[in-house]
Amino acid sequence: MTSSPDLASLYQLLAKEQRPILPSGEQRAILGCGYVGEAVAKAWRQEGHQLWGTTTRRERLAELAELVDTPVIFDSTDSRTSLSFTEGLDGILVSFAPSKSSQADVSQYQETFLGGIQMLLDSLEHRSSKTPLQLVHLSSCGVYGNRGGALTNEGSQLDILHPVNDVLARAEEMVQSVRSDKVKVCILRLGGIYGPGRDIPGMLLSAAGSLVQRNGQNVPCWIHLDDIVRGVSFAFKRNLNDTYNLVNDTQDTGQELTDRLCEQAGLPLAKWLSVDTTDRVLNARVSNEKLKQIGFTFTYPSMISQ
Ligand SMILES: NC(=O)c1ccc[n+]([C@@H]2O[C@H](COP(=O)([O-])OP(=O)(O)OC[C@H]3O[C@@H](n4cnc5c(N)ncnc54)[C@H](OP(=O)(O)O)[C@@H]3O)[C@@H](O)[C@H]2O)c1
Repeated sequence: MTSSPDLASLYQLLAKEQRPILPSGEQRAILGCGYVGEAVAKAWRQEGHQLWGTTTRRERLAELAELVDTPVIFDSTDSRTSLSFTEGLDGILVSFAPSKSSQADVSQYQETFLGGIQMLLDSLEHRSSKTPLQLVHLSSCGVYGNRGGALTNEGSQLDILHPVNDVLARAEEMVQSVRSDKVKVCILRLGGIYGPGRDIPGMLLSAAGSLVQRNGQNVPCWIHLDDIVRGVSFAFKRNLNDTYNLVNDTQDTGQELTDRLCEQAGLPLAKWLSVDTTDRVLNARVSNEKLKQIGFTFTYPSMISQ
């Protein structure tokens, strides 16, 4: 009988072999193979697509080569890099974001998002107008800002008074400027991402019995990594050409969500502040109804296990 360590080494061996691209496979790029980009790359490989994936760091190229057919260095702040390889592709996922290693300021958001998207638009200009393209851009529900906890859908006003949200809103507009008969553009506005390695429920639980130095009266929104991967695949399969909130069903305040998690775990409640400690606040009951209406279902509708 084959033992699992043998299977693991067999998988490693197969991963190194030249992979056949399925006849149904497309040529797709993931711009920014970070937490989400990597997970999408794994799913797209399973679907048999030929993949390009980008990183800003040379030392990540070997690791990326395990996930995509063509790893590429792309850094929107470095004009020596380019996105010319995207010109003839069938699909592009825009999933780059300022590096987590440093405190991102507004100019970093501008350079990363606006600079990077401009480089993408420049490359797409050289594209044959007859070739169809599906573009999916990962944006953030942060763009809604502080709506006093009001029910919020894709048509709600964006908080462009905050400079970071203004950048995110302008990035969405820029990406949508390439929309045409042949180019479909889907914007997915994500909630705060959690999943393996980003254990937000665990982090909230670790506050049990103590004081959280954040405003617990605000309503944030959340999305599990697996549902992002499924949402991106859904957008590609359905050739979506519109803006959708990709958030789970939870519309609790930070305090309410932590209370529910602590109660379920039998732990003492955590106490949150009731004043803002940051100038960029998301406080909106963000609806996922538009995506559900077209048939999307969530694997993780809530952070609280049922
Ligand atoms: N994190 C959240 O809770 C959250 C919430 C809402 C929306 N989003 C959006 O979801 C998307 C994916 O987020 P994530 O958590 O997967 O991000 P992540 O793990 O931080 O990955 C970001 C990727 O962008 C690349 N990158 C960084 N600076 C760049 C630059 N100047 N030019 C080009 N590429 C650059 C990084 O390169 P390296 O490989 O070199 O690191 C990395 O591959 C982003 O668009 C983000 O704005 C995230």
